[in-house]
Amino acid sequence: MSHLHSVPCGPDPAPPRSGSAASVRVEAPGKVNLFLSVGAPGPDGYHPLTTVFQAVRLIETITARRQPSQSRQDITLTLEEPDGAVPTDEANLAVRAAHLLARAAGVSEGVDLLLRKRVPVAGGMAGGSADAAAALVACNALWGTGLGPGELAALAAQLGADVPFPLIGSTAVGHGRGDLVTPLMARGTYQWVIALQERGLSTPEVFRRFDDLSGAGPAPSTQEVPEAMTAALRAGDPRALAAHLHNDLQAAALDLRPELAGVIALAERAGALRAIVSGSGPTVVALVQDAACAQRVRRALDASGLCSRTLRVDAPVAGARVVG
Ligand code: C5P
Repeated sequence: MSHLHSVPCGPDPAPPRSGSAASVRVEAPGKVNLFLSVGAPGPDGYHPLTTVFQAVRLIETITARRQPSQSRQDITLTLEEPDGAVPTDEANLAVRAAHLLARAAGVSEGVDLLLRKRVPVAGGMAGGSADAAAALVACNALWGTGLGPGELAALAAQLGADVPFPLIGSTAVGHGRGDLVTPLMARGTYQWVIALQERGLSTPEVFRRFDDLSGAGPAPSTQEVPEAMTAALRAGDPRALAAHLHNDLQAAALDLRPELAGVIALAERAGALRAIVSGSGPTVVALVQDAACAQRVRRALDASGLCSRTLRVDAPVAGARVVG
């Protein structure tokens, strides 16, 4: 991390370290978990994970705009399409990300953030985490703070377990709380049908239900990513990948939302290679062979009344990047 050198005196002091653009636009992707193995919670309440993330073409966009010079630092967030379920104050992870970067890099400038959301809210696809990752990258460029990928990843991990992944995108293995991410070699393109629910699920509640359901048996421990899954990804083989999709949180999400079992069964009956709950849910993601199959699965789900909406997306896509 570089630090601002003070300018002793003079009529025209150099402006605070800063990028030169008036605004910076950054895109960051949502994710699905291809594999999620959850262990018993540690003393901090967090669960150790082994997971495989895949970034999907559901893209959050943050535009960071320079403010006219102000006496105090002001970080604001506006939603392009206002949504009562998304806070615009300090409760928003993107706002927290901007504050954290400003503190860490000693920036006193403010920023106006404009957010366009495409990842479903509270759906288990890490939309809020993508917003935070996008805000870090956007403010780092706007303010000219010059943090490198490792420094941004360390700040991202302070914001939430799922925030480091959208910085790198593509396909990656996550360890620790899910925040220690390593890129994974993957070929090919994968087609997903995403089945959305009207009401979200709370991630802490799903983890609590996971603990309740595992209470009777031996303490759960994390499994490593099966070699067959990494081989399927290396080969770019969706059919082989489908056989190894796995989510330890699925039983907890189904316990909280029994109707999701019907979504999974219907997607598979309609021809999906496999369907699983994404992360902590309630979104169900169905891996399909091709566009024709995607259409059949969407038609069946849309007609069933079991989900509020369906989307088709491809994956993997790149991590957070400046696009304008
Ligand atoms: O890190 P983040 O704020 O996204 O996590 C939200 C909640 O999900 C945590 O407060 C915790 O209850 C749960 N969680 C967990 N173990 C993880 C990740 C999240 O228990 N590895």
